[in-house]
Amino acid sequence: METMTQDEMKQQVAEAALAYVKPGTMIGVGTGSTANKFIDALASIKDQLLGTVASSEATAERLRGHGIPVLTLNEALQQVETLSVYIDGADEFDPGKNLTKGGGGALTREKIVAAASDAFVCIVDQSKQVAHLGAFPLPIEVIPMAQSLVEQAARAIGGQPRLREGFTTDNGNIILDVYGLTITEPRQLEDHLNTIPGVVTNGIFSHQGADTVLMATPTGVQTIQ
Ligand code: 5RP
Repeated sequence: METMTQDEMKQQVAEAALAYVKPGTMIGVGTGSTANKFIDALASIKDQLLGTVASSEATAERLRGHGIPVLTLNEALQQVETLSVYIDGADEFDPGKNLTKGGGGALTREKIVAAASDAFVCIVDQSKQVAHLGAFPLPIEVIPMAQSLVEQAARAIGGQPRLREGFTTDNGNIILDVYGLTITEPRQLEDHLNTIPGVVTNGIFSHQGADTVLMATPTGVQTIQ
């Protein structure tokens, strides 16, 4: 039997997510290679959409390239109370549907758009499933002057922070990737890191965890509720 490539699995799960887009609603759209495949699939039903809110400049550009309407979150929330759904990938997910995100550096806008949405549908391939978050280095968006302060705090919890070289977020900040963490209490760590002055946000999505994970496998897409 031929096995499916990771790229083919991403394509399959991106198409499956279309079922979560309700006609006539405003939706949030994530960032990354899986989200890009979702955007391309979304083009086929663009006439049914009220609009979209993008979690990054790159996503906004790709949506507009397909002729899909993009609003800022502030514009959108003047028209609707909430976005009906946020659809995005992840770097890792655990059995509690807590996520690590930010591999693409868009974590802050992703968390904001997720918080404005009624539901978060996370689209991943099976390589993202873990028992505990942490094998994927945890991204933290940091205001540049606080770099050393946040590095000290990351070391204090047993992590090894590394500056993401040559990268600036859409918000003009840096990313520290923290290696070596085993995250058994995601909500506590998310809260703790977000109390450090200079941290904009960190890539643990526990408060904004997934409501539904669609996980592509070589034998089909599994729905984890
Ligand atoms: C970007 C993200 C992405 O969702 C995450 O990095 C997964 O990306 P991909 O779909 O390319 O594997 O959080 O900031």
